[in-house]
Amino acid sequence: SARGQVAPLLLDWYRKQARRLPWRVAPGGGTADPYRVWLSEVMLQQTTTAAVAPYFARFTARWPTVQTLAAAPEADVMAEWAGLGYYSRARNLVAAARAVAELGGFPDTEEGLRALPGLGAYTAAAVAAIAFGRRAVVVDSNVERVVARLFAIEEPLPGARKAIRAAADAITPDEHAGDFAQGLMDLGATICTARDARCLLCPLQALCTGRAQGDPVRLPVKAAKKPR
Ligand code: ADE
Repeated sequence: SARGQVAPLLLDWYRKQARRLPWRVAPGGGTADPYRVWLSEVMLQQTTTAAVAPYFARFTARWPTVQTLAAAPEADVMAEWAGLGYYSRARNLVAAARAVAELGGFPDTEEGLRALPGLGAYTAAAVAAIAFGRRAVVVDSNVERVVARLFAIEEPLPGARKAIRAAADAITPDEHAGDFAQGLMDLGATICTARDARCLLCPLQALCTGRAQGDPVRLPVKAAKKPR
């Protein structure tokens, strides 16, 4: 089916085109260090990959393991975080590191990860898939856009989130869910962007209903703001 073709096409593209980001292992190179995956995912919430890279380098140089981060005074972590914004992320980071150190390591399931302080559905799914090779459905705003276009989901956001998640679930493979998720993210960041849909470069062009309909960039539809 067309649905079943999404994962093989995307994984093949990702193997060739994956952005070489500092927290990644080479695609197909197995699973990454959960500490580095988790730290990068927390930093990447509301912050671009370019802005995150130097912070990620400094953090991992100073605190190379979750145990070292757990032992750090919160004030040192806050100082190192300065400039990244959303400072509750840094406070939660320290709390989660201490919980992980207490447990003797990261939980290796989405559910176990979700129980750590500050780990939301997105981060738990991302770490489970990318670091532990679990099948998890990882939906951030880039993935949301790609999936809304691929299936021409017309319902406006935020109401469409349920349908988008169901569609993302339906195309997520049992194996390599981490590469698959990061492939969707890279597609959304570099080809299927908010302003543009460079369909001729897209590995999913032949499967994309949004493209077939002629105007993928209008998707996802955003609900009109209520007048105030
Ligand atoms: N944004 C958030 N997490 C990411 C990841 N793992 N790869 C690329 N972009 C991301």
